[in-house]
Amino acid sequence: MSRPLVIAIDGPAASGKSTLGYHLARHLDYLYLDTGALYRAVTLAALRRGIPIEDEARITALAESLPIEVLPADGREGRQYTVLMEGEDVTGALRTPEVDHAVSPVSAYPGVRAALTRRMREIARRGGVVMVGRDIGTVVLPDADLKLYLIASLDARAQRRFLDRLAQGKEVSLEEVRADLARRDAIDSSRKAAPLRPADDAIIFDNTTLTIEEMFREAERLVRDEDC
Ligand code: DC
Repeated sequence: MSRPLVIAIDGPAASGKSTLGYHLARHLDYLYLDTGALYRAVTLAALRRGIPIEDEARITALAESLPIEVLPADGREGRQYTVLMEGEDVTGALRTPEVDHAVSPVSAYPGVRAALTRRMREIARRGGVVMVGRDIGTVVLPDADLKLYLIASLDARAQRRFLDRLAQGKEVSLEEVRADLARRDAIDSSRKAAPLRPADDAIIFDNTTLTIEEMFREAERLVRDEDC
């Protein structure tokens, strides 16, 4: 490997971004950053403080000042990373239906995006990073060495997210999961600030019919090509 690469992975909810991003980061011994966790941490903090989700000014101020740290996984509970918010481990609390529901409106606020984008760029500055999100290739890291844009059909994504939630012991129906994904995709794609879309130079990676292993092998091949 000649030099550490910066790899951006974007795509809609449950398109396989974090599964692939985490795998590539481990394969390459790079830092893995799931940027959705930062938006989720701001959302959780707003919910806990009782700030109405419509209160853009207070939520923006929160995003600018909230202490958030993302640490590499320590192997517990099969987690990919640990998120500390004001020093408290909130990793599990970021994945509740309440946060799922409120995070898209929070992430549509331009001031929230500006504050979190600054933090993401600081983290990427040293290279050797796989960053996963919605606007990494378009806005956060437009000069990334490799940009992947993952897609999969809504049915395939709903099925995967449903099985994840079942494995976590959460009681949800496939229909609810499907409807929430469709709602979030619509908000994420239609918002004015950094909407979800592929960068012009992104490789579109449709994994609807791929197994996880096939997806890993294909992405590893793309990384090798990039490194030549
Ligand atoms: O990937 P996720 O489901 O954890 O992301 C949570 C929300 O955060 C998602 O609805 C869109 C938003 N997000 C974003 O707008 N930009 C990013 N780079 C990452 C996530």
